[in-house]
Amino acid sequence: MSIRLEVFDDEQWAERVTQRWLAYMKDRPAARFCLPTGETPRPVYERAAQDGDFSGSTVFLLDEFDLPVGNPGRCDEMIHRDFLDRLPEPLPVLHRLDFAAASPAGECRRFENLVDDGGLDLTLLGLGGNGHLGLNEPGSLPNSTTRVVEVAPSTAAATLRYGTVERPERGMTVGLRPILGSREIWLLVTGSHKAAILEQVMKGPIGPDVPASFLRDHPSATVFADRSAAGTLSSELAE
Ligand code: PGA
Repeated sequence: MSIRLEVFDDEQWAERVTQRWLAYMKDRPAARFCLPTGETPRPVYERAAQDGDFSGSTVFLLDEFDLPVGNPGRCDEMIHRDFLDRLPEPLPVLHRLDFAAASPAGECRRFENLVDDGGLDLTLLGLGGNGHLGLNEPGSLPNSTTRVVEVAPSTAAATLRYGTVERPERGMTVGLRPILGSREIWLLVTGSHKAAILEQVMKGPIGPDVPASFLRDHPSATVFADRSAAGTLSSELAE
């Protein structure tokens, strides 16, 4: 199996990815998406919210931090701010992992059952500076389920970019098993600060040290990188 890499100029990246997403949706008005939050997808969400019709879609939010309700670094806050609040009604159905649930482990099972009941059509992902997908931090295995995790120190520090002053210690994440079960996966990567880890994802060993490397075993995974993140890599199929 192989992973496709498509590289776009930095200034065109968001527009090109958005156009691909809208084209994907044309024939799939009831698509089931798993969506990330963070800086990378933000410009895509802004554009897609203007031109896309998501009224029949279902959105599974990829992960969540154990931050207080209303904290700007929470994923549910970000998906609303960056995407859902920009959409016209009716909004897509949103499923999210809730730390306030009586049993966090039970909450993860509930969520994963919802995912499994129909599967995921398209999962969009950002790439952690440490190679994580969602909060599947280094050490995560490809059969990992949706679960409560400890947030890696570098991930906790990175959340400060999202406007929180509190660092999350724990998170909930869709596991690698349901992610890799998605019919199609797009990994979104921008900025020169992601170039070194992207090279490892594409060319390094496949294994839990860099969870995103497991995407190379997926039958339909594409990396959409801007030129700054692609570095010396160019559009190609990596084995
Ligand atoms: P970013 O986060 O898009 O804010 O860089 C990506 C990630 O950590 O998964």
